[in-house]
Amino acid sequence: MKELKIHNIHPYHGKFYYGIPQYFIEKYGVKCKSIIDPFCGSGTTLVESAKYDKNCVGVDINFLSYKITKAKISKINIEKFDKYVNLVLNCKNFSDINFIDKEYWFSPSNYFDLCCIFNGISLIDNEIYKNIFEVALSSILKTCCNKRKIWNNGYIADNVLPNIESKTNLRNTYIKRLTFFKNAYKELANLNLDNVNVIKSDILKYNNTNEFDMMITSPPYPFAVDFAKYNRLSYYLFHEDLTVAVKDETGARSKRNTKNCVEEFFSEIEKLYLHIMKMIKIGGYACMTVGNTHRNNKKIDFVNWLIKLYENNGWILLENSERQLTKQSMPQKRIQVEHILVFRRNN
Ligand SMILES: C[S@@+](CC[C@H](N)C(=O)[O-])C[C@H]1O[C@@H](n2cnc3c(N)ncnc32)[C@H](O)[C@@H]1O
Repeated sequence: MKELKIHNIHPYHGKFYYGIPQYFIEKYGVKCKSIIDPFCGSGTTLVESAKYDKNCVGVDINFLSYKITKAKISKINIEKFDKYVNLVLNCKNFSDINFIDKEYWFSPSNYFDLCCIFNGISLIDNEIYKNIFEVALSSILKTCCNKRKIWNNGYIADNVLPNIESKTNLRNTYIKRLTFFKNAYKELANLNLDNVNVIKSDILKYNNTNEFDMMITSPPYPFAVDFAKYNRLSYYLFHEDLTVAVKDETGARSKRNTKNCVEEFFSEIEKLYLHIMKMIKIGGYACMTVGNTHRNNKKIDFVNWLIKLYENNGWILLENSERQLTKQSMPQKRIQVEHILVFRRNN
């Protein structure tokens, strides 16, 4: 099955290649009815599960992950969508939306457009559509923000602000984006999305014992990525607290500098995994992609640690295969090989 456009409505770090959930479902999940992705990110598992008529719950701690996934599993009426496009694009209210360090991040004209569009979206009287228009706006922030000459990822670092004005026109980019969204939703028209749902929560606080036939996920790897910081501009746009998000995120890269960070990571992720294991029925499957990482040039063997954890808790390893990663964004280049792990719960 080909990739749906909806998978590309918003960039997301560590996003699954859509063929991975497909592979897991076709090889292990034909008879499974219910699936959970406890670290669902941008919701790839949910959309792919819907294609196979499965029930699926996605959970993620990141507010943007929730918004993107919610947008991906929403159905729209094209005429209503067009009506809201007019409403948003005709808004002339340029009151300041109080974006942090706005004068660094945007040219005056792009900031003017950003304010008008954001204020226009606030006039939408339907939460589903409002979220979709917000996600569309969030998806173009990195394209339209100001840059730095060498390191164009100023949006990740704490102390690096851009200093070269962007030539990309924010309003035109948004208009093009809305057309892309519209086409993506047209493609979704025949997909039944009634049985997929996303929840914004720390997975540790989500309780559902023995509920699911299958888990499909890509967990946070130790210190590989800062999911919240990677979306810094979206946090600023929606006035979400980035500092709290970084603190709450498991395995965030910016936590790698404290003395006991590796032990702390493993103790935290062990709690999460033991909790998730209980959610899968006996005989059910846990399918995941996992990578090893490094800290101070020392390998962190996350793959073998996970295998031991599952086996010690009565699960059987069914598959441990390797996958070379080719297309990667800058911070991911640190990981060249990913493991595909599949376990079955035995007791
Ligand atoms: C590798 S990403 C998942 C990407 C996803 N497979 C996709 O296709 O977009 C890992 C996710 O784990 C989330 N996460 C980190 N700590 C978490 C926690 N304690 N509870 C729930 N989600 C968490 C991050 O916010 C991130 O979205």
